[in-house]
Amino acid sequence: MLITFEGLDFSGKTTQIKLLTDKLRQHSYDVIVVREPGGTPISEKIRDILLDKKNLEMTQIAELLLFSAARTQLVSQIIIPALQSGKIVICDRYDDSTTAYQGCGRGIPLDAVKQINKLATLGTIPDITFFIDIPLSEVAHRLKESKASADRMESSGDAFYEKVRKGFFDIAKSEPERFLVIDGNRRIDTVADEIWKIVSLNLS
Ligand code: TYD
Repeated sequence: MLITFEGLDFSGKTTQIKLLTDKLRQHSYDVIVVREPGGTPISEKIRDILLDKKNLEMTQIAELLLFSAARTQLVSQIIIPALQSGKIVICDRYDDSTTAYQGCGRGIPLDAVKQINKLATLGTIPDITFFIDIPLSEVAHRLKESKASADRMESSGDAFYEKVRKGFFDIAKSEPERFLVIDGNRRIDTVADEIWKIVSLNLS
């Protein structure tokens, strides 16, 4: 089973992934967790290029293809073999991020993005995707609180994030069974309980 998490930066999805993983392991499921971009030596190198603030000259198409290149390595080397051996794979971001960030956010035509996503994932579609939604004001607040300096993607501005968030809602509309919107502006344990209820219903 492939479970993916999506959300704007600082949505809390990494915390929720940890809680879900712990819970699944308590129930003796064999789980692996990977993050995008990254998760293989090649993909981690591509991640550094993508997030490096010095790479201001990167074109939007180069950005799209680099995210996709990192993904296809991860899918081939890690995700498909793990699924084939019966593991539960949890992925922190997947191709819905490309649709929302590069397609809806940057404005690259969605039909092209769709084709590239299909190619890069080798047609491997998540069983469930949790989109942890928080309002933009909360993203800005959490960025400030974290005192971390923004990476290249996080320096894209509010108008960009507004489009990305809308992009995620558009995916939810077109694939309501797979792509679930979770209100992330609540207590951590309340969000975790909702996610666990849904996952446990889907476990065999
Ligand atoms: P990361 O530090 O992993 O952020 P987060 O913890 O929020 O996932 O950085 C990943 C960044 O790359 C994030 O800003 C979202 C962006 N991204 C895309 O634009 N397209 C993609 O396909 C993926 C996977 C990520």
